[in-house]
Amino acid sequence: MILVTGGCGYIGSHTVVELLKNNYEVIVIDNFSNSKRDVLDKIKTITNKDFKFYEGNVCDKNTLKTVFENNKIDGVIHFAGFKAVGESVEKPLMYYRNNLDSTLTLLEVMSDYNCKKIVFSSSATVYGEAKETRFVETMKKGIPSNPYGKTKNVIEDILEDLYTSDPTWSITMLRYFNPVGSHTSGLIGDDPSGIPNNLMPYILRVAIGELECLTIFGNDYDTPDGTCIRDYIHVVDLALGHIKALEQLFNLESGIKIYNLGSGRGISVTEIVTTFERVNNLKLNYKYGSRRKGDLPSICADPTLALKELGWKCEKTLDDMCRDAYNFIQKQRN
Ligand code: WQD
Repeated sequence: MILVTGGCGYIGSHTVVELLKNNYEVIVIDNFSNSKRDVLDKIKTITNKDFKFYEGNVCDKNTLKTVFENNKIDGVIHFAGFKAVGESVEKPLMYYRNNLDSTLTLLEVMSDYNCKKIVFSSSATVYGEAKETRFVETMKKGIPSNPYGKTKNVIEDILEDLYTSDPTWSITMLRYFNPVGSHTSGLIGDDPSGIPNNLMPYILRVAIGELECLTIFGNDYDTPDGTCIRDYIHVVDLALGHIKALEQLFNLESGIKIYNLGSGRGISVTEIVTTFERVNNLKLNYKYGSRRKGDLPSICADPTLALKELGWKCEKTLDDMCRDAYNFIQKQRN
């Protein structure tokens, strides 16, 4: 059985769908702090499969002990954690407490039950303000510009040190670039509460008229069209990367591995906006504003290692990302 922490979240729910489609037995634990209970039924509708669910906080040791006491868990995919960059700057203690406490509690209980296979949801943010624009796993980690990113950095260190102390662990860290899009059913997707930080959720709110105008944060960068470049990856491609990582975890002896999950293709903000308009046959209301603090001009994955060792690469296109994202928000709002 595979325990998925935060399995009702954006990336977690898409990964649970792919796990069930690949005939894994799944247990989800989620406290709905940044997700909705109806995601459980939507996953069942998409896959026509059932799975166990525990409502609870991964920080709570008793809850986790109950899960491990009552189920033979062979491996864990750990998504649960707060992930809003802006919020993490305002509430650093909440982010350190939640993201570190949940991970430490999970690893302690996994050890107690001799479950030593984990896939961790990390982020390209751990590369920090690297001078390179194309990131490769062997690069030295940087210092993320926000507490959210720093929690990911610290958790990667915790996992490295855990493996050094006990090399019978099988640990895989997946560094996501910019996940966007939704399952083609339109039943699950990225719909954060409040005003979205991230580009695509903000575009969606403007597209459906909930927000007036998108501000493109800066068009004076040293890039072809002056706007920032990022490596956008369809969330379903991202989910499939987790399936490949899990397969490797069960096929190989113990070890610790890090993989970038990105397309390797840099896309500018303006390109996202114009593609979204074309694919969905609409006009977005947007303007160019000043740069956002902490933004780097260009970030892109070198996805070579994941292809070489996991046999994984992105299949979906930017058109797919824009179409699926809009389909989701329309279904959500109707
Ligand atoms: C993308 C581009 C903005 C909003 C963040 C986190 C990272 C990861 C992915 C979790 C940037 C521009 C955005 C808007 C805009 N999250 N933008 N107007 O900053 O690359 O990465 O999300 O792991 O950790 O840092 O993503 O979507 O916020 O921004 O112009 O209203 O869109 O300036 O260039 P980012 P993003």
